[in-house]
Amino acid sequence: MQFQKPKGTQDILPGESRRWQFVEEKAREVCRRFLYKEIRTPVFEATELFRRGVGETTDVVEKEMYTFEDKGGRSMTLRPEGTAGVVRAYAENKLYAVPGVTKLYYIGPMFRYERAQAGRYRQFHQFGAEAFGSDDPALDAEVIALGRSFYQAVGLAGFTLEINSVGTPEVRARFRETLLRFLEPKKDLLCRDCRARMERNPLRVLDCKVDQAHFEGAPSILDHLDDACARHFDKVQSHLRAMGIPFSINPRLVRGLDYYTHTAFEFKAAGIGAIDAIGGGGRYNGLVAHIGGPDQPGVGFGIGLERVLLVLEKQGAELPGEAAPDLFFVALGEAAEARAVALLHEARERGFAAEK
Ligand code: HAM
Repeated sequence: MQFQKPKGTQDILPGESRRWQFVEEKAREVCRRFLYKEIRTPVFEATELFRRGVGETTDVVEKEMYTFEDKGGRSMTLRPEGTAGVVRAYAENKLYAVPGVTKLYYIGPMFRYERAQAGRYRQFHQFGAEAFGSDDPALDAEVIALGRSFYQAVGLAGFTLEINSVGTPEVRARFRETLLRFLEPKKDLLCRDCRARMERNPLRVLDCKVDQAHFEGAPSILDHLDDACARHFDKVQSHLRAMGIPFSINPRLVRGLDYYTHTAFEFKAAGIGAIDAIGGGGRYNGLVAHIGGPDQPGVGFGIGLERVLLVLEKQGAELPGEAAPDLFFVALGEAAEARAVALLHEARERGFAAEK
């Protein structure tokens, strides 16, 4: 009997693993420069954390979670994303008690039961960053700058940045009514997913790839922001400009997770068929309190490393392969054989990559 890897997973084989080490090293190097510190949290958490954190009506929670009951009868879920676990760890370990902004990053596997295709896996890897404890729009811009520096560090070309403001829950509630008034007469023309989304999360309708033709003249959330939200969004933009970071505003950008407030952003690149999101994130001011922590604001991103590598390969970027030996010993005869073993070992001890 022969076994195969589960659908939507990948073996990272020798030769390819060096590329993974390369992107991971670049992520760590960029985080060192921005003074973000690594955090490692469990790959599984209580299911309830994701239900509350990511949101009951999101595709991730409704359809894509790997949930199981452990032998103690508790419902556990393989993490579908990194933010909820990091927020839990931040609250549980009282990291907020340390003065100043808490700046964290992580690299690791995430799990979503999605329809597998190029660039979409059931086990995939994210490099993510999360910063807690400040409302300052400069922090939104810093997090975006960190993501961008990573893409640049690995040599990715031609990627773009889109930003939007999704306001506060109050702003969204008001916008929702206006939007529904616009969508209602078109309801029968929309795809099945959108009709379902109209009930539960109408803001996501505008994000639909199939129905764009029907959205001409749709109301924009940016016209519905209150003063504080508009000011925050303006500041984020002026900070990005000050750093020379190009971006475009996409008022229809709504992320697939429920926790966002104010800034939402996405990095996009061509090269993996219809998939273009190589990373995304935003601010999530109510989330820490929502999962039982103190009312501390947060902002962060997650970058899909498989997608970054796929785009790099497509672009023909030069990626490191496995290192060749520095020294190669050839022994002729039995006496030399014994000597060669000793020399080989000595070379390795001294830091050479040596082989016989
Ligand atoms: P997300 O947009 O769901 O956000 O995922 C972030 C990135 O992970 C995507 O842009 C994509 O590159 C990659 N990704 C997502 N699903 C898959 C998949 N099935 N296969 C391959 N790559 C995938 C989050 O996860 C948020 N936690 C980001 C965040 C952090 N927001 C604030 N802080």
